[in-house]
Amino acid sequence: MKLTNTNQSYGLIAKSFHWITAMLFAVSYVAIYFREWLAQSEFENWFAIQLHMSVGISIGVIVILRILWRTLDPVPTNETKSQLIVVSKRLVHFSLYAIMFTMPITGYLSIANYLHSGGGKIDFFFVYDLDFSGDIEIQKVAGTTIESLEKVAELVHVFLGKWIAGLLIILHVFAGSYHHFIRKDDTLRKMFF
Ligand code: HEM
Ligand code: HEM
Repeated sequence: MKLTNTNQSYGLIAKSFHWITAMLFAVSYVAIYFREWLAQSEFENWFAIQLHMSVGISIGVIVILRILWRTLDPVPTNETKSQLIVVSKRLVHFSLYAIMFTMPITGYLSIANYLHSGGGKIDFFFVYDLDFSGDIEIQKVAGTTIESLEKVAELVHVFLGKWIAGLLIILHVFAGSYHHFIRKDDTLRKMFF
């Protein structure tokens, strides 16, 4: 399998970015809803939120590398000539990239004040403490304080995470299945190993 994309298929690097991200999304959702619906003890609660944050930060880092890579390695051509399908695909992919950026940023901002005031730490994958306490410099973002951003960041994070991201992913998976099972083209195969 080629490392880079061809006209017919994504390459190993683009596929790896895609499937690692998809897996991290799944872990992020399982962790946060396990915490909300099932966690019984302090430990389970802590474990789930730490896992959610670690995975979320990783998605934020990966999406930067992924977009850089995408600018260097042109994606395969479209399977269809239908303008409607091409435009909706672009719109959904663009929105998915936007979600991969906004979720980690709003997630971090929603607890930044708590982290900076020394209230807690992010135990990145339980091996490395991301300790932001006392880091005053970052307290000001574009003339406003992190504290004042906290509530709005939380609202955006929860709204996008609960409704928009889930909806986009469902649409995206349905579109892939529609291509594979109904149109019987190679769209899904392009992204598989
Ligand atoms: C792509 C990455 C992420 C996704 C898809 C995501 C998604 C979600 C979802 C769906 C919720 C639950 C919303 C609800 O109440 O129903 C949530 C809550 C939360 N997330 Fe994230 N998140 C991501 C990244 C992060 C990051 C990087 C952090 C922090 C560094 C974070 C911190 C939190 C916190 C603290 C909550 C709890 C909010 C509350 O209960 O009030 N998230 N997230
Ligand atoms: C079971 C889950 C998934 C399946 C079956 C799937 C399938 C696919 C397929 C077939 C493509 C290629 C579409 C084409 O080029 O015509 C694709 C691209 C893409 N997928 Fe997924 N996907 C899944 C999950 C996800 C998740 C969770 C995300 C992110 C939140 C995501 C984000 C993207 C993006 C951004 C692209 C565009 C790649 C590019 O051309 O730059 N996918 N996916």
